[in-house]
Amino acid sequence: MSMKLESVVPFGRSFDEYQLMFNLAGDDLSKNILGVGDGPASFNAEMLKRGHPVTSLDPLYELSGKEIERQFYRVVDDVIQQVKATSESWVWAYHKSPDDLRENREKALRTFVKDYDSGKQQGRYRIGELPKLDGIKDESYDLAICSHFLFLYSDHFDCAFHQSAIHEMLRVASEIRVFPLLTLNGEYSPYVEPVIQALRANGFAAGIKKVAYELQRGGNEMLLARHP
Ligand SMILES: C[S@@+](CC[C@H](N)C(=O)[O-])C[C@H]1O[C@@H](n2cnc3c(N)ncnc32)[C@H](O)[C@@H]1O
Repeated sequence: MSMKLESVVPFGRSFDEYQLMFNLAGDDLSKNILGVGDGPASFNAEMLKRGHPVTSLDPLYELSGKEIERQFYRVVDDVIQQVKATSESWVWAYHKSPDDLRENREKALRTFVKDYDSGKQQGRYRIGELPKLDGIKDESYDLAICSHFLFLYSDHFDCAFHQSAIHEMLRVASEIRVFPLLTLNGEYSPYVEPVIQALRANGFAAGIKKVAYELQRGGNEMLLARHP
């Protein structure tokens, strides 16, 4: 499989997908959660409906909801076309087909856009970007999660970026989870092992956990790390 993307794509996933990608269970949902690079995911909006407000951080939040929507529709046809052309590289279980995937991404975007303006006013959507989470105090979150940015864009961001970004997430949160561990080409990111080694060398507990979500074939693992 080879996906050719010029830049990071503003695709968002749902609460249900976040729950599966990050093994969110038990008291996880009542934790103080920071979603890093949440983009137009509906996780934040759906968590609010469940009575658990979370904070999402993304450079995309400089834009208005309309502009984010426009960015999505500028690329969605091309991305779905590329997925269709590499259909065997994807697992059609959670999403039943490329068209179903598109519908689910549109649904998440609609839910996000509806919540975006009030969420911004309430401080639930904040402008920010890795590798430096300025203005966030040490360990002010129980859990920081990052979906479909780190490791996925290994061709765009180098190992040093990944090392700094992941250590920064652990500065602001007691525990972090990152999904997936694959690159856009469906290969295991070359940065996973060096990142784990560096985390352990710095005294953090770090490892890989299997999860019950797989869209990129073989992409059913997350990185989990926490303070000792
Ligand atoms: C593919 S989207 C994934 C959105 C969401 N996490 C999800 O899985 O549904 C990747 C997101 O990473 C964001 N991003 C790009 N550069 C970033 C950076 N340096 N730090 C944090 N997020 C970044 C993009 O704006 C985009 O919203």
